[in-house]
Amino acid sequence: MTSPDLPAELKAALDGKLRGFSRSDAAGRAASISKTYRGGGGSGAIRSEADALAYALARMPATYAAVTASLNALVEIRPDFAPNSLLDVGAGPGTATWAAAEAFPSLKDFALLDANDALRTLALDLTRDSTRLRNLAYERGEARAELAKANAADFVVASYMINEIGDAEQRALAELMWAKTLDTLLVVEPGTPAGYARIIALRDHLIALGAHVAAPCPHDGQCPLQAPDWCHFSQRLQRSRAHMQVKGAEVPFEDERFSYVAVSRMPPGQRPSRVLAQPATGKVEVAAKLCTPNGLNTARVRRRDKAAYAEARRWRWGDVVL
Ligand SMILES: C[S@@+](CC[C@H](N)C(=O)[O-])C[C@H]1O[C@@H](n2cnc3c(N)ncnc32)[C@H](O)[C@@H]1O
Repeated sequence: MTSPDLPAELKAALDGKLRGFSRSDAAGRAASISKTYRGGGGSGAIRSEADALAYALARMPATYAAVTASLNALVEIRPDFAPNSLLDVGAGPGTATWAAAEAFPSLKDFALLDANDALRTLALDLTRDSTRLRNLAYERGEARAELAKANAADFVVASYMINEIGDAEQRALAELMWAKTLDTLLVVEPGTPAGYARIIALRDHLIALGAHVAAPCPHDGQCPLQAPDWCHFSQRLQRSRAHMQVKGAEVPFEDERFSYVAVSRMPPGQRPSRVLAQPATGKVEVAAKLCTPNGLNTARVRRRDKAAYAEARRWRWGDVVL
């Protein structure tokens, strides 16, 4: 399992960029960028080096943690997956590339693409001293045009970018990403009802194109959840002092909510059930909401069944249950 916290090399690179930057200025910029996102705007608000750094300080730890949690889930289902090449679509400051490099020591070729020049420049700065990432290829341009030109890769990832694409274009983008996927495609979105709706629409479309879900679902059928319920997970991450200052935060951690889907060209060898919410552990039983290959189910594990109860007490939201 890869740690959800930023790797030391990336932390050091971010700290290096921070020198000479005012943290209160970064906090102001981060707040205004977040306000734009909350209002439904995109990364177009990130225009300068200072904006890009403020965005990275405020959001990179959480998006990194969400992508890492999704990668850990994928690796658990596909322990044999050892990609050589990565294509990071809407790569921004390179968050998903850093996370994939940590999760897959086999990765050698890193290709990134994004429309935002300030974020691309920051990504290149952050990877400059990294032995593994310094030779990455990062194209600047609109995703669909760049994807059409890109080489296919074993592993394709799009993290927190689909929400910036118009509804009508999301299907076309999914088709292009899938066409460039030799093995597995991972899409991660915010863990909101709207983020989940985008993931489910994409999932359905990709399954229709022949994809098989590796994670989080234990099946390729219709999602059994009914609105207002939605499938999402939560990853806790530590906040550094700079991260706290930029966010004006008081506690040294945060919980990032995210939705994701990882689809592969071949069906996975195993499809265990997944815990969809934090289980309720009581004196009599552990009750856990599970997504199983046959639909939703609440597992009730009684205390009198000692071994099973001890096992169920360790279940956490997002875990697979064998
Ligand atoms: C919220 S940021 C996420 C960045 C990165 N994937 C991460 O997880 O930190 C969304 C990124 O998608 C990029 N993006 C949005 N629409 C795009 C498009 N049509 N073509 C290329 N990049 C796009 C933005 O420029 C931005 O870098």
